Amino acid sequence: MSPVPKYDFNAQGRRLPQLDLSSLKINIAFIRNKTIVITGGASGFGAGFCTEWAPHGANIIIGDVNVAAGEALIAKLRLETNNKNLHFIHLDVTSWRSQVDFFREAVRLSPHGGIDTVVANAGVNGPREANLFENPMSDYLNDPDPPAPTLKTIDVNLTGVLYTAHLALFYLPRNPDSTPCSPTSPSGPGQRDRHLILLGSIASLYPVVTQTPYTVSKHAVLGLFRSLRMNAPLSSGIRVNMLCPYFVHTPILGTPARLVLSGNAIGSVEDVVEAATCLVSRPEIIGRALVIGPKVKVRVQVDEDGIGLGGTDGIPYVEQVFEVADPERSGMPDGQGAIQERAIWEVYADDFQHADHFTARMMNLNQAASAVKGWIGFAVDMASAITWRLWSGKPNREMTPVKKERTSK
Ligand SMILES: NC(=O)c1ccc[n+]([C@@H]2O[C@H](COP(=O)([O-])OP(=O)(O)OC[C@H]3O[C@@H](n4cnc5c(N)ncnc54)[C@H](O)[C@@H]3O)[C@@H](O)[C@H]2O)c1
Repeated sequence: MSPVPKYDFNAQGRRLPQLDLSSLKINIAFIRNKTIVITGGASGFGAGFCTEWAPHGANIIIGDVNVAAGEALIAKLRLETNNKNLHFIHLDVTSWRSQVDFFREAVRLSPHGGIDTVVANAGVNGPREANLFENPMSDYLNDPDPPAPTLKTIDVNLTGVLYTAHLALFYLPRNPDSTPCSPTSPSGPGQRDRHLILLGSIASLYPVVTQTPYTVSKHAVLGLFRSLRMNAPLSSGIRVNMLCPYFVHTPILGTPARLVLSGNAIGSVEDVVEAATCLVSRPEIIGRALVIGPKVKVRVQVDEDGIGLGGTDGIPYVEQVFEVADPERSGMPDGQGAIQERAIWEVYADDFQHADHFTARMMNLNQAASAVKGWIGFAVDMASAITWRLWSGKPNREMTPVKKERTSK
């Protein structure tokens, strides 16, 4: 029997070496003249991105349901930066029509007639909705017409993001003079881009207990990222990256969340903006996910080359840490080992390695099973796939005329 070809997940899934985030290299000049579209840009991270990129000459169009905050932010930034290419448009990401209009208007406002970066950022969390989902209050047994649970979190964080991503997949390859993304993309200010950033969360990676709809929505954004990160560069030359922030004090965190988080280290908007700026400003970064946690300053063990363990390979094990600084304290006294101060980590290449290896083993087993089936098995399956409707008696649904629904009078 011929040997089974091995599915090389590292080659197929990662392709590029891990990012060196020990010092975040930002190529701020690249941002000039880029047209950047941000959903949910009136507040929190969205407002932070806009505030950081506007003075560097980006053309920014933000969309948000919060008209007052969006208009005020744009008016303030226009005044402060003298950048006239900043715009606010009302947008409800849950409405397909609203998103279509938003993208059309963004392209019309763009000085070069295209979009370089789309940031799918709008998001909500509803603790009450989550509570009602997990603790059903309606009498589903006896109520003759029980209401369905509300799932606004899914509507905004998942359907809204899918609409945005879908429109980005349409508009980005049509960005005039843009070329398909590549690890060797030139990064001059005149260069156009095709870039989609998804706002995941730490809730994309582990469950925020009691916040089920939010966790589900952000896990789904991770699924979207993992699907597109490999496919979009190949099919339409679009690079797709993701941000997974830890908890940060923005308006999305209500009082109960802030109470639960009291005393814990917390992330900062500045670090999320820095991670996003790194992705936006470096067109060679393709298919990467960055986790942004609270900034930690630790003194770690070093290896024989004097390199801090954990270093660019990831977060050090706590046993390798000699000392953790109080976040309120700026300095750290001299001592053994190396000092690391990091808030941003690359998650894809490290934390998903186990999942990837599991999947690779499963794929290898599947391929081994396919090899046993051989060409005859393949031919039988193909014939069955083409003819199954004939022998199963199932009509081809696409061919069946749509019946008019009867309306009750
Ligand atoms: N703050 C955190 O702790 C945290 C952590 C991880 C991920 N995130 C994610 O970051 C993104 C931004 O959140 P944030 O922390 O800046 O919160 P935020 O509340 O400050 O900003 C969210 C923005 O989205 C807008 N929005 C809500 N529904 C909308 C709709 N239907 N259409 C258009 N805009 C809408 C809001 O008006 C608001 O301006 C979200 O996707 C959120 O899930 C936040």
